[in-house]
Amino acid sequence: MDPRQVAEHLRLYQELGVTGISRDARWRSREVAIEPEEVTGTPAAGTILSLQEIREDIGDCTRCKLHTLGRKQIVFGVGNPNADLMFVGEAPGADEDVQGIPFVGRAGQLLTKMIEAMGFGRDEVYIANVIKCRPPENRNPDPDEVERCEPFLFKQIDSIQPKVIVALGAFAAKALLKTQDPISRLRGRVYDYHGAQLIPTFHPSFLLRSPNQKKYAWDDLKKALALLDRQPPRQPSESA
Ligand code: URA
Repeated sequence: MDPRQVAEHLRLYQELGVTGISRDARWRSREVAIEPEEVTGTPAAGTILSLQEIREDIGDCTRCKLHTLGRKQIVFGVGNPNADLMFVGEAPGADEDVQGIPFVGRAGQLLTKMIEAMGFGRDEVYIANVIKCRPPENRNPDPDEVERCEPFLFKQIDSIQPKVIVALGAFAAKALLKTQDPISRLRGRVYDYHGAQLIPTFHPSFLLRSPNQKKYAWDDLKKALALLDRQPPRQPSESA
């Protein structure tokens, strides 16, 4: 790795309050659940669809006005369809709209580092947004856009069946928990979401503006690790 990248990683870890990194490879390893073969045919109501079927259902979506407001493409989601850990953000920004992948811009780079600080790679978790199309000028999604789009997120969660969902920011937390409480009130606790444990935390864009809050986000991510029976990075003296 480039020494500048190493220095940047260490700076982030320091801001997060990570106190050490284990050299023990075992805490990175995880079992990947093997899902049963998909059964083909028309799904009955309430049937759990595969991610591919959900993507096909979205199609070249015209269900809300965002398709007329300059979106380049639908940003569906990315990662392991059997992930135990899922991250949910708000809506794609300009970079995501161009690449068709969630969280690839500046906030996305921070999210990637947070995921790596937890001991995961981006390809081991699943990342999606409440809204699949970019709102113009990065405005907040309108309620009618949320109403049309959020069912697809709910179906993605039903399909993936993650053990832990990290809701990034107020928007995702409010959509999943159906509450109007601010993120400052919601975070710090674990909620049940359809059998998954939901942890609201600050959105990476907020953390870019308020780096002194990163330590609280790291507390939330450590909670997610504990729920997954994973060790947070340990003091070097504790490692093998
Ligand atoms: N912010 C989000 O909420 N989602 C993205 O995909 C990118 C930035």
